[in-house]
Amino acid sequence: MSSAQSLSSTHPTFPPDPEFAATANGTAQLYDAAAADYEGFWADQARSRITWDTDFESTLDWSEAPFAQWFVGGQLNAAYNCVDRHVAAGHGDRVAIHFEGEPGDTRTITYADLLSEVSRAANALEALGIRKGDTVAIYLPMIPEAAIAMLACARIGAPHSVVFGGFSAEALNTRINDAACKLVITADGGYRRGAPSALKPAVDAALDHAETTVDKVLVVQRTRQETPWFPERDLWWHDALAAASDTHAAPAHDSEHPLFILYTSGTTGKPKGIFHTTGGYLTQAAYTNAVVHDVHPESDVYWCTADIGWVTGHSYIVYGPLANGATQVMYEGTPDSPHQGRWWEIIQKYGVSILYTAPTAVRTFMKWGSEIPAGFDLSSLRLLGSVGEPINPEAWLWYRKYIGGDRCPIVDTWWQTETGAIMISPLPGVTTLEPGSAQRPIPGISAEILDDEGVPFTEPEKVGYLVLTKPWPAMLRGIWGDPQRYRDTYWSRFGEKYYFAGDGAKYDADGNIWLLGRVDDVMNVSGHRLSTAEIESALVSHPKVAEAAVVGASDEMTGQAVVAFVILREEHVEEADEVGEGTDLVKELRDHVAKEIGPIAKPRTIMIVAELPKTRSGKIMRRLLKDVAEGREVGDVTTLADSSVMSSIKLGLDG
Ligand code: PRX
Repeated sequence: MSSAQSLSSTHPTFPPDPEFAATANGTAQLYDAAAADYEGFWADQARSRITWDTDFESTLDWSEAPFAQWFVGGQLNAAYNCVDRHVAAGHGDRVAIHFEGEPGDTRTITYADLLSEVSRAANALEALGIRKGDTVAIYLPMIPEAAIAMLACARIGAPHSVVFGGFSAEALNTRINDAACKLVITADGGYRRGAPSALKPAVDAALDHAETTVDKVLVVQRTRQETPWFPERDLWWHDALAAASDTHAAPAHDSEHPLFILYTSGTTGKPKGIFHTTGGYLTQAAYTNAVVHDVHPESDVYWCTADIGWVTGHSYIVYGPLANGATQVMYEGTPDSPHQGRWWEIIQKYGVSILYTAPTAVRTFMKWGSEIPAGFDLSSLRLLGSVGEPINPEAWLWYRKYIGGDRCPIVDTWWQTETGAIMISPLPGVTTLEPGSAQRPIPGISAEILDDEGVPFTEPEKVGYLVLTKPWPAMLRGIWGDPQRYRDTYWSRFGEKYYFAGDGAKYDADGNIWLLGRVDDVMNVSGHRLSTAEIESALVSHPKVAEAAVVGASDEMTGQAVVAFVILREEHVEEADEVGEGTDLVKELRDHVAKEIGPIAKPRTIMIVAELPKTRSGKIMRRLLKDVAEGREVGDVTTLADSSVMSSIKLGLDG
């Protein structure tokens, strides 16, 4: 089944394959249905995909805009929807998770197993005094307990706050405090590049501050490495679960009960606790996983390679696929452990049919060479997905040819932590695919592109700002504890009518939307969101640093890379004489950022400079620094307070 290929202006496009279309969950009628009756469309999705303890009375309450309520009056349990109902429907023996540990250990978890594990964990949490409304931090490697812990929290109505295992103790501390978590669920460690890597010491350090709201730490034993232990506070997960019953009645929660908090970088130094509620989020996660990933639970083996610490892992490892009763692969480690064909080996081993990953991974595989995937049988694949950053047409075409065997549709899915679920994407089996473009809002979602004045336009190739024009079920309900910041960040740039996504976008001549990256001070490095302000504040917290400016410079492999310009304190300027990559000082600063935030935030390049370019009002002109970082001719300097600064920076670097 090879699809015909036609040429658009610059790239080939790919019309849907009739054989794929014949069984696709997505249909052209969905667009019509959503356009004809927007609320009715979402009400149908909610009622057909989700099991409600109490049906909702109204679909949407937008009277307190921008604070939405979806499926008002409805009651449900997210864990029941992801687990119990599949067992009740006779699918208890279906595999929910094929777990593949990095060292090669495996576990097969059926829906019946998942039900007993989640029930035990829910009972254990209750025995530890966790009640509905208490917040729980989860800091775990990619092991099944991460999903089990999330579902156990959801079951009892305790919002979880998952913190990516790569974040530092400092970052964990800030997040635990902001959400006033009562419990932390962690592990002794995880496996990374062939070796155990400790996790628990970071929790100990995070809690080693005077004030903490945390009473207990529940520790999963994964690596069996030596682990510091505080008997009053620490408990083994396996002991707590062994002591708990494997049945637990799932209580009904309000549709708007908070399901989770997930911190993400914004334009200021302080990460934002994005929070999502139950009914709307689950509806859209299940719907998109069905119509965009085209999951058929009875026959597919689905694999989303994201970490559970990011929103992609929340929506497309835990809530979407499990709500749909899918079988999925979960892999703990890195793509090159122990060899560069590990992913392809996993696809061959489990017969993976749907693969959802990030462009940065695709570009890495391109660099490693197409002969590596060619050594494995990838014929089980029937759909590929991309998320997290723009996928350049070259990477798209490579992905299609070398991984998708020239037959799999690719869905380039645009969304955000804030949107909760996929918003802009082709529908496989319906859309003619345009490499490099996320194309158009999915049925039920409305977007526009605005110019500087906030006026929508459809003119091709003109660059503007992406906005969402209608509330959607999985939308964030706010920033935890900071409603004003929610209004200011998302609903003020173009007034209260438009959700400002922070992304630049354009249309092509066919009306496809192309996402062009962030327009604010947020960087996207390997699909990870980082804030320039957060890294700057990490740098200036180092005793040798007087001032710092950070920019995201384009990078072939990681999309963007962190480049920092640093002014040293007077007494350390001499150390800068031997500046350059790899010097002790630069290494010290990079390590400091890793300690403050996490290794993902380490600057690729640190340039020690004498001055920074500033406007007369004292604002750092990052645009000019970006020119330097990307090796371009420096742009307009007329608004600088001192226009000679740029030449001295360039001179310092060149010399
Ligand atoms: O800039 C967009 C980019 O990632 C941002 C959202 O990051 P985060 O909240 O961490 O969520 C990532 C996973 C959903 C967006 O504002 N982005 C995400 N997907 C795409 C994308 N940019 C272009 N194309 C995409 N498909």
